[in-house]
Amino acid sequence: MTDTPMIRMASVEKHFGDLHVLRNINLEVAPGQVVVVLGPSGSGKSTLCRTINRLEPIDSGTIEIDGKVLPEEGKALAALRADVGMVFQSFNLFAHKTILENVTLAPIKVRKMNKAEAEAKGMALLERVGIADQRDKYPAQLSGGQQQRVAIARALAMNPKVMLFDEPTSALDPEMVNEVLDVMTTLAKEGMTMLVVTHEMGFARRAADRVVFMANGEIVEDAPPDEFFTNPKSARAKDFLGKILTH
Ligand SMILES: Nc1ncnc2c1ncn2[C@@H]1O[C@H](COP(=O)(O)OP(=O)(O)OP(=O)(O)O)[C@@H](O)[C@H]1O
Ligand SMILES: [Mg+2]
Repeated sequence: MTDTPMIRMASVEKHFGDLHVLRNINLEVAPGQVVVVLGPSGSGKSTLCRTINRLEPIDSGTIEIDGKVLPEEGKALAALRADVGMVFQSFNLFAHKTILENVTLAPIKVRKMNKAEAEAKGMALLERVGIADQRDKYPAQLSGGQQQRVAIARALAMNPKVMLFDEPTSALDPEMVNEVLDVMTTLAKEGMTMLVVTHEMGFARRAADRVVFMANGEIVEDAPPDEFFTNPKSARAKDFLGKILTH
């Protein structure tokens, strides 16, 4: 029996004008797998993430989520997008909504959940990320680490099939990084399919099934973390790890 991949990218190409940012991307992520994407600045990691829920259109190739081709636009796209949660470096919370409202807004508006149900679910998610006591505050009243945990809870409130993380801890003060990584590690253990762009090598070693290394718009290596960190094959990966690990 062959399992349908949760994310499937085949022959994906993307340009920004003359710049060829994604080159023949072929990537399959099985249900429950955690893939960490590494690579130098400008290698196309964020663009890769953004194409997966069509925040960026692609020039050619195919992207499927759970066996369904990403629709071009309209209601079908909105529905598929709801299956793909995304957490960014900047938390992008709604500044004028409370923490609980941030988490219940989309389920009420998009999933047509009734308010009481959305609030019960929202509170359960806030419990899960450890900030239920902050429910009535506004985002600016929370620390960066707390805000990022709200952003994760907000994405989970849509019951996504896949979670994409684009450098979720890189805007945080060092002492707040672990509280966010801990939530992500738990999510990974619970079987969420995750694609995570991060420079946190500890997280990659602990939680990832695979490391995908990108350079210049290409996937250059795709290997289990142990293998990638101890025995990178390409010169570009060796060079990258040399720079990162000596920091
Ligand atoms: N909207 C855009 N218009 C034009 N060029 C873009 C756009 N977004 C990204 N680029 C360019 O595409 C390339 C890949 O960018 P991307 O943000 O995907 O890289 P990245 O690997 O995420 O880098 P970083 O580690 O710095 O976040 C870069 O050269 C970038 O300048
Ligand atoms: Mg980026």
